[in-house]
Amino acid sequence: MTERRQSIHGEWSSRLAFILAATGSAVGLGNIWKFPYITGEYGGGAFVLVYLACIAVIGIPIMMAEVMIGRRGRQSPVNTMRTLATEEGHNPLWQYLGWAGVLSGFLILSFYSVVAGWAMAYVPRVASGMFTGTSPEKVASIFGDLIGDPERLLAWHTLFMGLTMIVVSRGVRSGLEQAVRILMPALFLLLVILVGYSLSAADFASGVRFLFAPDFSKLSWEGVLVAMGHAFFTLSLGMGAIMVYGSYLPSHASIAKTTIIIAGADTLVALLAGLAIFPLVFSHGLTPGAGPGLIFQTLPIAFGQMWGGAFFGFLFFILLSFAAWTSAISLIEPIVAWLVENRGLSRIKATVWAGGITWALGLGSLLSLNLWQDFKIIKWGILDFVDKLTTNVMLPLGGLAIAIFAAWIMSRESTEDELAIENPLFYQLWRFFVRYITPVAVVVVFLNAIGVIQVGKG
Ligand code: TRP
Repeated sequence: MTERRQSIHGEWSSRLAFILAATGSAVGLGNIWKFPYITGEYGGGAFVLVYLACIAVIGIPIMMAEVMIGRRGRQSPVNTMRTLATEEGHNPLWQYLGWAGVLSGFLILSFYSVVAGWAMAYVPRVASGMFTGTSPEKVASIFGDLIGDPERLLAWHTLFMGLTMIVVSRGVRSGLEQAVRILMPALFLLLVILVGYSLSAADFASGVRFLFAPDFSKLSWEGVLVAMGHAFFTLSLGMGAIMVYGSYLPSHASIAKTTIIIAGADTLVALLAGLAIFPLVFSHGLTPGAGPGLIFQTLPIAFGQMWGGAFFGFLFFILLSFAAWTSAISLIEPIVAWLVENRGLSRIKATVWAGGITWALGLGSLLSLNLWQDFKIIKWGILDFVDKLTTNVMLPLGGLAIAIFAAWIMSRESTEDELAIENPLFYQLWRFFVRYITPVAVVVVFLNAIGVIQVGKG
């Protein structure tokens, strides 16, 4: 057994602190903005079922693998992969997996920050009563005005990146814990209130049917790929975010239990968001496949009609912005940790570099909504393209490589020692999943989706 390493960046104060931070990373725009709109686009029930299966079969085993690798290496993903690969007698080129993660982090955060800006922009809009008693058409046009205005978007994108950089520069441990402890339960409660509103005032039955009654004729291989990609995205997997958080995890904490709690909380939030939104979609004659604007075109209707709507709406968008913020922090942390370790930069300097580059990249996504609307890569604008490239390609491939690393490169002794699962059967099960099931599932979904896309083109 190797001697336990220590992280130069410090450790979480407890297992609970890690759970809070990792849940803060997992729960974000993915759950509340993305999950409902992709579920709408890919037909509902059957898509949701595949997504849930991906969380269980791919997400949970890979999350365990990431946390385990992180804790064993105790450095940024780049250095962790290099150290562990060498230690296990393999090629240090595995560090490039860490680099791929750094690239994904930059790309994801660049558009994530723009969308988080939309959520922040809605705080003053709902609070001022702008939506009170308005028609769905007016609500949609308010959203259109926002994303059509590059200057406003720029202000919010800049503010969001600035706020993210403040936390990251001070070290993710100070402040994050306390904030997540209060704000996550508050967000949860607000979602429950919204579901209550949809239950009493909207077409709840149609919403539930859409979400949970699977109609497999509506499911394509592309839909399966998107569901799988989203399982990675929503759990923050495949690029080293959870790995770097794992590198700050105290040695005695149980990785298996923690992972299940985090994945469970994340899934619950997504389903609640769906239950709040789809009844509104159906009772107001909107289309489930409305795309990325879906929550901004549905929830304000509810806030415009319900009792105390301006207040609840104000709280909701604050909490959503906050959830995005705690996710953004984890996207940039692997990069900052590497800059501190290898370039000897202070955390502040490292954050300014990493944040500045991300901010600049984000301008592409931001302008693709308005001035550069006609510029397409293949058939998507920059924001959509970067989102699809990272979520559906880079994260699953990163996850595949992580599974291979955990199950084929690291020795059985190392993983058994680091995971320290009491029940040997449970360890066997994990190992079987990351060795065979997860890699095969990712490859099969990929090949089929590529095949289908090519057939579609021809
Ligand atoms: N999981 C977050 C969400 O659902 C986004 C996120 C944070 C993420 N860190 C990540 C996605 C790392 C992929 C990889 O909003």
